[in-house]
Amino acid sequence: MGQTQPGDINLTAKHPEMHNGPVSTDIYWKPELYELEVERIFKKTWHYVGREEQISRTGEFFVKELPTFDFSSIIVRGRDNRIRAFMNACPHRGNQVELTECGRRSAFTCKFHAWKYDLEGRLAAVPDEEGFPLLNKADIGLKQFSCETWEGFIFINIQEEPDQTLSEYVGEQGMDLHGYPFSSGTSRFQFSGTVETNWKFLVDSFCETYHVPYLHSRTIRQTMAGSDNPHGRAIDVRLKGDHRTTSVWANLDYEPQPVQGLAAAAAATSITSAVATTVELPKGLNQTRAKNWAIDVTVFFPGLVCVINPGMYFTHQMWPLGPNRTKWEMTGYLRPADNAAERFGQEHAIVELRDAVLEDANTLERMTSNVATGLIKEFHFHDHELSLRYQHYTVCKHLGLEQ
Ligand code: FES
Ligand SMILES: [Fe+2]
Repeated sequence: MGQTQPGDINLTAKHPEMHNGPVSTDIYWKPELYELEVERIFKKTWHYVGREEQISRTGEFFVKELPTFDFSSIIVRGRDNRIRAFMNACPHRGNQVELTECGRRSAFTCKFHAWKYDLEGRLAAVPDEEGFPLLNKADIGLKQFSCETWEGFIFINIQEEPDQTLSEYVGEQGMDLHGYPFSSGTSRFQFSGTVETNWKFLVDSFCETYHVPYLHSRTIRQTMAGSDNPHGRAIDVRLKGDHRTTSVWANLDYEPQPVQGLAAAAAATSITSAVATTVELPKGLNQTRAKNWAIDVTVFFPGLVCVINPGMYFTHQMWPLGPNRTKWEMTGYLRPADNAAERFGQEHAIVELRDAVLEDANTLERMTSNVATGLIKEFHFHDHELSLRYQHYTVCKHLGLEQ
């Protein structure tokens, strides 16, 4: 079968603000720059917390940890159908109000002294209220965060007054994905763990395929590289505000293993094959409309990576815990299978994905311990590692550092 060629070596040169030279490694390990990132980037940005489908009925809620800030939030659908986000902390003396992961309630009652809050976060009842002569219940409630949705993704912002609306934050990247059937991915799977690495290295590991022929020689090498693309070049990398997208090449000449072929035929979910598109793709997915397209890796700066193909999408979310420590959450969203064959195909795709990302994670810990010594002063990015170079550029811009 004829192949479309991967992108040429000219991606970086299209962006005058970028250069091709080495970059400083400081932002990947220096504790003082990490602190600055938390203050200037993570405390100010919008954070993805879950999907609208998780709480489709009044009173349905879920609790979401925000590991970088060491507290959890309650996301709940109110009686007015609005989704709100509250800090999971009782104003009486600070206990966590909700201890279950998710469910449906008519009110939230703190287990410590039973103060009770309605679905809109207002303080509704206080046992032995007489003992608080100065307490005015109307003035007290759960601390509320700004909460907005984009394409069914619920985001919260912990600033008192967010610098941007969610729509301004997702910007062109968000608009270009409009129309993808995100809400049909109601069957979910999740992997998570703490990786001893900087959050940016985790993001990077999903944003370049230069490593695929080598690091993934036992998993996805033959599917994302091949004789027409021996070095795993991308189809294209597009920069959009602080965000960016990498379109990943698929090897149409790849002959799958027998079981792999069966699985791919049964469910259009595999990351290892170019799958027939059954949905009309939005403008921002496979923007060059390449025939050899496998997946798009869309990044919402700083730490949300949404990997999308026609049959499945999954998110990686990086929550920094320290300069060399990151909570990594990977969630996949699939259409519920119509039959057992499709379910089998989906499970096969999940396992392929798990094996490949474990290869990434192991490498990250080894490189982190080297870089954290401070002895490696510079990195050298390939032209098709433009997404990584742009992340470096964007972080430096927010921290006010020289490029
Ligand atoms: S801390 Fe919640 S009722 Fe006392
Ligand atoms: Fe990888």
